[in-house]
Amino acid sequence: MMSSFENTYWPLNTKGFNNKIPAVGFGTYLISDKTTIYKALDTALAAGYRLIDTAAVYNNESYIKDALNVLLPKYKLTRKDLFITSKLDPKDHGDEKTVINAVNRSLNNLGTDYLDLFLIHWPGTFKVSSNSPENFKMRNSTWKALMKIHNNGNGPLKNIGVSNYTTKHIKEILADPSNVVPAVNQVEFHPYYQQSSEFHKVCRDAKIILQAYCSMGGSAGKNSLLNNDIITSIAQKHSISTAQVLLKWALQRNYAIIPKSVTPERIKLNIELDKELTKEDMESINNIKHIEKFAWQPEKVF
Ligand SMILES: NC(=O)c1ccc[n+]([C@@H]2O[C@H](COP(=O)([O-])OP(=O)(O)OC[C@H]3O[C@@H](n4cnc5c(N)ncnc54)[C@H](OP(=O)(O)O)[C@@H]3O)[C@@H](O)[C@H]2O)c1
Repeated sequence: MMSSFENTYWPLNTKGFNNKIPAVGFGTYLISDKTTIYKALDTALAAGYRLIDTAAVYNNESYIKDALNVLLPKYKLTRKDLFITSKLDPKDHGDEKTVINAVNRSLNNLGTDYLDLFLIHWPGTFKVSSNSPENFKMRNSTWKALMKIHNNGNGPLKNIGVSNYTTKHIKEILADPSNVVPAVNQVEFHPYYQQSSEFHKVCRDAKIILQAYCSMGGSAGKNSLLNNDIITSIAQKHSISTAQVLLKWALQRNYAIIPKSVTPERIKLNIELDKELTKEDMESINNIKHIEKFAWQPEKVF
């Protein structure tokens, strides 16, 4: 059975033929084994996911290619039916040659001649101290190189964006009028880490799509969000799972989502998100005061 979210796309600020993004995508962090990725993508495509989120550092790009070689014909899909996102390894910040090599590596690994979205994974550079101004120089140089490769949508990167960019990093990129505005900023966002109102204003005013990761608390096996009392009571009221409440809350906060699972039943349910949360449900989740981060700390990157 297909989910109604299969056909839910949000407009991106980029011009060109790939300028819309599925609101719900499939996350692949920590799925780095060939058989597991094949099975997960098999279930995900059958359930209606059309966006696959990967990254150079996930070490699964070539397994995704192998899986898609079999699965696209199986589901009578073509490359154009998919939206594939990959991300630059923080080791590959820098000059044009370094960035072009990194992009080509992701394209080759994924067996495609274009990516729908390519993100700077992290505002800092590998092995450069977080508080060093060198980070700004490196990500700025990377962005200029990505803009050239993107070539207003005519190059192999149909949309370019960033990930883990804080208000400071986003303001900096917007301050240079010669910069292409990032299409997407993929950030940690869930009831225990709701980002600031300034962050939301800056990104929304620039028409940057926000995409949430760790919506269900991340892959580190911490279940505190999934077991939270407020989330649990809302889930019981609507007869849905706590994961579905967390995912629907993010969508209703206008965040695109990329839930990850290797469990078939969860993969299917994580895109079954038709039940609307009420204004009261939304407010009680918005008012959760507990703050907890499950991933890295971009605020520390100069
Ligand atoms: N840009 C970045 O820096 C960054 C950082 C982190 C993540 N991401 C991206 O965002 C995606 C999602 O984030 P994430 O993988 O960290 O965390 P997540 O999607 O919040 O959570 C994944 C975890 O939740 C479990 N889970 C999934 N569905 C569930 C359900 N319905 N009920 C209970 N548990 C469930 C999964 O277990 P099973 O797999 O065992 O089912 C897995 O342990 C990643 O896969 C990756 O693509 C990006």
